[in-house]
Amino acid sequence: MCGIVGYIGSRGAYPILINGLKRLEYRGYDSAGVALQNGGVRIYRKTGKVARLEEFCKDKDTNGTIGIGHTRWATHGEPSDANAHPHISKYGDVVLVHNGIIENYTALALILNQCGYALDPREKTDTEILANWIEHIWHEQKKESTCTFEDAVRDSLRTVVGAYAIVVITPHDHQMIVANHGSTGLVLGIGRDEIFVGSDATPFIDYTKDVITIEDGQMAVLLEKGEYHIKNSEQKEIEPAIEKVLLTLEEIEKGAFPHFMLKEIFEQPKTIADSMRGRISLANSKVLLGGMKIHEERIARARKIVFVACGTSYYASLIGEYLIETLARIDVQVEYASEFRYRNPILGEDDVVIGISQSGETADTNEAVKLAHTKGALVLGICNVVGAMMSKINDGGTYTHAGKEIGVASTKAFTAQLTVLSLFALWMGRTRGMIDENKYQILLRELESIPASVEKVLAQDALIRDIAKKYYQSTNAIYLGRGINFPVALEGPLKLKEISYIHAEGYPAAEMKHGPIALIDENMPVIFIATEGEYLDKVKSNMNTVKSRGGKIIAIVTEGDTEISSLANVVVPVPKVSEIFSPFLTVVPLQLLAYHIAAFRGTDIDKPRNLSKSVSVE
Ligand code: M6R
Repeated sequence: MCGIVGYIGSRGAYPILINGLKRLEYRGYDSAGVALQNGGVRIYRKTGKVARLEEFCKDKDTNGTIGIGHTRWATHGEPSDANAHPHISKYGDVVLVHNGIIENYTALALILNQCGYALDPREKTDTEILANWIEHIWHEQKKESTCTFEDAVRDSLRTVVGAYAIVVITPHDHQMIVANHGSTGLVLGIGRDEIFVGSDATPFIDYTKDVITIEDGQMAVLLEKGEYHIKNSEQKEIEPAIEKVLLTLEEIEKGAFPHFMLKEIFEQPKTIADSMRGRISLANSKVLLGGMKIHEERIARARKIVFVACGTSYYASLIGEYLIETLARIDVQVEYASEFRYRNPILGEDDVVIGISQSGETADTNEAVKLAHTKGALVLGICNVVGAMMSKINDGGTYTHAGKEIGVASTKAFTAQLTVLSLFALWMGRTRGMIDENKYQILLRELESIPASVEKVLAQDALIRDIAKKYYQSTNAIYLGRGINFPVALEGPLKLKEISYIHAEGYPAAEMKHGPIALIDENMPVIFIATEGEYLDKVKSNMNTVKSRGGKIIAIVTEGDTEISSLANVVVPVPKVSEIFSPFLTVVPLQLLAYHIAAFRGTDIDKPRNLSKSVSVE
């Protein structure tokens, strides 16, 4: 996923574009670029982060009141200055930025080449070819009639296959054209005499809170003085709804924290509470999940529940599996969305498929959800970003309400997903009569107390930082856990890998003896999740095995433990809670450990190499 910005008005566009790009950098940071219109179009592009582009532009002419910008996550073509956006067409008539994929760009390049463009599709990106395609159509149409820039963009897009959001300018007109085809990341910020464009509202919330979403199939012409005309896919002009964006500057700034990731880890007591807010009725202490309630009868009689997700959301789903199977006694299957799609899964109308995604834009997850729909299953979504694609393609669902997550490594979104999954499992368990009222009430009360317990875990930050200081030069790590904490033992290494680039793997603790044990020596940190629960004795015996081979044991234990403390090299105590809620507490030390290790290693924590916050390509 890439980030796109635009500005048309009476102010200088450049500072608005640069600041906007910095806020969108979480979407991709392989390269950045801007184009400014001021009696011609000047384009500046640089490989790397926006700060590098800014440095490059210091002594350049950045005047102009119309401009577009882009921060790229490379999918077609390596990260390079040449492949950075904006792209300009051969004769200089079309300049554009693009987020998405143009699938038929090779075919378009072949036609262009027959008409005198020398574009080798093996060397050119899909965006570059799109810019030339629009120019070519414009030139062709001009031969026969008077054809406007708007006509050219609209008509050229008729033959373009793919999912994309684009912003296009030309040196010949004081206007900007935006179009959306199958993407949800395109919004306009409506100022008094000016219009802002963004992949989301973050680039311009300090200028305006009035936002129009450019929906799938829509195209808009933006003019100076804040005028705009939006047409739907039938070319009918529409009167769009202007919404007030709720996002605050505080939410998208780091405040006193050095990184968004650390800020988001520390926000968790609040975000878990926000995820619960309004979902436990004060009047009769019942779970309220509005977007699912309407399907209550079908969910309650489901033959099986299938979760489809990727990355951290997949690990949250694995915890959902334990929760639902334990509390509601329904068969649950958890699938990597990318694999599920290609297996011709056996599904019918008795099944419920739940897509889980922070962004709601992950292509693999959304495609899996669509497939489940075609098979007749009831399809629900759990996502964080309000209005994301996922919320538009399912039969119902719920938001996690964790607030904007900017750190590429997902933290608060994960615990918000656990909150919704816990509520869902409790609701199903009660609806299906698998838990009695007394137990239901006890568990609900305990869930409500989780934010306070997470606060206590966060108070261990200094201890965890000391552990990180000791181990940050390790080159490998193993994470072990059992039962509901096995998925936490998968999430911990994912965090570590993403931001510190240390190789780490997670296993069910008992599985270690079937191979990974060969890796253990005195240089191997082994992180055990060893809180009180059904399998603790077994985990202890796995720990003894590691100790006897010289492995260095870091254990997450329940407050008051003495036994494990004598086995491990170091322990991090967390408050005692029911086992089914323990992942809320055991994951936090692992997030902090990954964070501090990466900080000691000096990596770019919020923008780790090669990653993008959401992966909207398959
Ligand atoms: O937005 P999603 O939850 O669908 O994203 C799924 C994964 O791409 C995501 O969880 C990724 O693994 C994170 N970077 C994990 O920290």
